[in-house]
Amino acid sequence: MRFLRRRPCPAKVAAIHHGPPRLIHFENVRKSYRVDGREVAALHPLDLRIETGEVFGIIGRSGAGKSTLLRLINGLERPSGGRVMVDGVDIAALDGAGLRGKRRDIGMIFQHFNLLAAKTVAQNVAFPLRLAGDGNRATIERRVAELLERVGLGAYANHYPAQLSGGQKQRVGIARALACAPSILLCDEATSALDPETTASVLRLIAGIHREFGLTVVLITHEMDVIRRICDRVAVLDAGQLVEMGEVADVFLHPRHATTQRFVQEYEHEETPAGAAGSAASATRRIRVTLRGESVHAPVLARIARDTRVDFGLLGGRVDRIKDTAYAQLTLALSGGDVEAALRGLREAGAVVEEVA
Ligand SMILES: Nc1ncnc2c1ncn2[C@@H]1O[C@H](COP(=O)(O)OP(=O)(O)OP(=O)(O)O)[C@@H](O)[C@H]1O
Ligand SMILES: [Mg+2]
Repeated sequence: MRFLRRRPCPAKVAAIHHGPPRLIHFENVRKSYRVDGREVAALHPLDLRIETGEVFGIIGRSGAGKSTLLRLINGLERPSGGRVMVDGVDIAALDGAGLRGKRRDIGMIFQHFNLLAAKTVAQNVAFPLRLAGDGNRATIERRVAELLERVGLGAYANHYPAQLSGGQKQRVGIARALACAPSILLCDEATSALDPETTASVLRLIAGIHREFGLTVVLITHEMDVIRRICDRVAVLDAGQLVEMGEVADVFLHPRHATTQRFVQEYEHEETPAGAAGSAASATRRIRVTLRGESVHAPVLARIARDTRVDFGLLGGRVDRIKDTAYAQLTLALSGGDVEAALRGLREAGAVVEEVA
């Protein structure tokens, strides 16, 4: 796959700010639209740094401003205030040719795929290369064939979009986004139109491409499950405000803002409601215990229960993964024995312990 490797980066423009250069940097960026002669705010002033090579998720409800934020990165929208810097370059300051050049480095995939219906799969993938005047016919054909092979559609080059499933269409969209060997991939609700199984396979493909080519991926979604599977960090948008941001495991396991808590609750809707277990009646303390990494599978609870003679009633919980990290989050009713010693023991074992009502 040597052919697909990223072009050597052009000389980086010197960073204007101190500290290491950030690949994508929103500096006090706001965006409003004019609707019926009135200014309507889509994004309130926000600062955001997306590091080189990370998978950065943005979650929010419909109308929260997710697409607006994404479109500011590749200059499809211009900020109403502040600056969007990509690799030290102010996107809004570029002229037409400069912006076209920059966009070649920023691939994008869409919820509804945006394929050209009258062109074959191969022609769709070749389109950005032809537009950029990138290579002769033979090199374009070779690159298209490699890209289609990479996304698992080697046998579909001459099909038309209407002959493909949703998942296959998105794979064509991904191949097209990668055609010019970008260093950034923007994903706007890329799996929202797909069933859960196809969603999982498209997310695996994006994750594989991210690892293989070292891309920076910015992905927007309204599903916490998508964030959990693939992202390193996440930002939560609510009515144009950036309300929470952090490592996915931290935000997911300990959400602070009410909007984030609702997203997590939606994901965990099948959790047993607290109080459903019979032992709850005699409980003296209810706690939520979060374990991460290897301690998830260690017999921590059994040991502490034995040592402290505390009964651990299980009220609800989940054992799952966040990207590559295993976690367990359990709601427990503690009764009898030395409860304080049990809480100390849990904390010493690396668990985060929170009292719940
Ligand atoms: N071109 C436009 N003109 C006027 N208003 C717009 C325009 N684009 C977006 N908006 C408004 O800005 C706000 C944010 O829109 P945006 O498309 O960024 O939301 P979103 O989070 O992507 O929503 P969805 O999940 O439905 O795609 C909305 O209130 C929307 O109506
Ligand atoms: Mg949108």
